[in-house]
Amino acid sequence: MSTPSLLILPGDGIGPEVMAEVVKIIDWYGDKRGLNFDVSMDLVGGAAYDKHGVPLADETMAKAHEVDAVLLGAVGGPKYDVLDFSVKPERGLLRLRKELDLFANLRPAQCFDALADFSSLKKDIVAGLDIMIVRELTSGIYFGEPRGIITEGNERVGINTQRYTESEIRRVAIAAFELAMKRSKKLCSMEKANVMESGILWREVVEEVAKDYPEVAVSHMYADNGAMQLVRAPKQFDVIVTDNLFGDILSDCAAMLTGSLGMLPSASLGAPMANGRPRAMYEPVHGSAPDIAGQGKANPIACILSFAMALRYSFDEGAEATRLETAIEKVLADGVRTADLLGEEGATPVTTSEMGDKIIEALNASL
Ligand code: NAD
Ligand code: IPM
Ligand code: MN
Repeated sequence: MSTPSLLILPGDGIGPEVMAEVVKIIDWYGDKRGLNFDVSMDLVGGAAYDKHGVPLADETMAKAHEVDAVLLGAVGGPKYDVLDFSVKPERGLLRLRKELDLFANLRPAQCFDALADFSSLKKDIVAGLDIMIVRELTSGIYFGEPRGIITEGNERVGINTQRYTESEIRRVAIAAFELAMKRSKKLCSMEKANVMESGILWREVVEEVAKDYPEVAVSHMYADNGAMQLVRAPKQFDVIVTDNLFGDILSDCAAMLTGSLGMLPSASLGAPMANGRPRAMYEPVHGSAPDIAGQGKANPIACILSFAMALRYSFDEGAEATRLETAIEKVLADGVRTADLLGEEGATPVTTSEMGDKIIEALNASL
């Protein structure tokens, strides 16, 4: 097979800072494991707006269609708050997700042993936690029509529409059941069937799909209770499948079970391409973190773990993904911490790039 191609879109704020560490890791795989990638870099978000006047140039979108996988840092920032909604940095990210049809967003939340003490929850609640949130990513209230701000009488009305077709629900449910089969065969679907018709349909379709997976234990939960259960007893869950908006919120919530939003990776997957690989974009769950951007404080682990997911889901390199995850675990076990993983009076934190270097050291030690 020809050298696999990667399009890297570092984006804004801490995006380029954490992506620089991923580039080090990619180079390491080329040098030490003979795993080479044909890498190209481009702009997204505010960075693309500054150059092109749009948050994603058509040429960049075309490139994203051609490559084997996209790696994205983060987009957004206060500098762009004044822009028209249609050209805001976040629109660039949403366009990528929508046009690549990346309907299944896998957001694993794993609590590394070394961080169990650091979570805002009690250690025994989170130690050993390993859950997978599957968030629908290309439909629902993020994209439903009608939408907009209109004037009705003498006041403005903001409108967004929650809309799901049964095929949209079915395909993400199938992705979640397939994952459940590879994990502990337990799946919880979250919606609000008590108040939303889209939730009623969601539950019905999940039940239909469940018939094809008799080995999977299925449960349904209202998403508000789900949020509460996630912080009360998160280890009751294995795979959670939910819609676009609930998935956004529940995954940020799950981040704090692992210690920091700087720890959570994600894979946004679509249908298989002609070469059999899924269409895919890998992105940390966190944003551009304007409060710490440019200070070398960002934790690059979420972005590096997103690359590990790329190794596993796009390039069939599960053993190398595990090598990288194990290296990260080792570095954390050695007490190496970026500032987000230290309490108020913690020891001296390492910088973003020092964390990357430590992970490279652990990779070297793994050979
Ligand atoms: P955020 O995720 O950027 O930051 C939330 C908090 O978590 C901040 O205190 C930040 O410092 C901290 N944090 C986040 N990532 C971190 C990391 N890697 N290391 C250490 N600390 C980290 O969310 P926000 O502040 O609500 O949003 C800022 C901007 O990012 C907005 O423009 C938003 O739209 C955008 N955003 C983009 C993405 C994305 O590109 N995928 C995701 C979420 C938010
Ligand atoms: C995320 C982000 C995005 C979302 C924004 C930046 C569009 O919060 O990836 O979680 O809401 O999906
Ligand atoms: Mn989010």
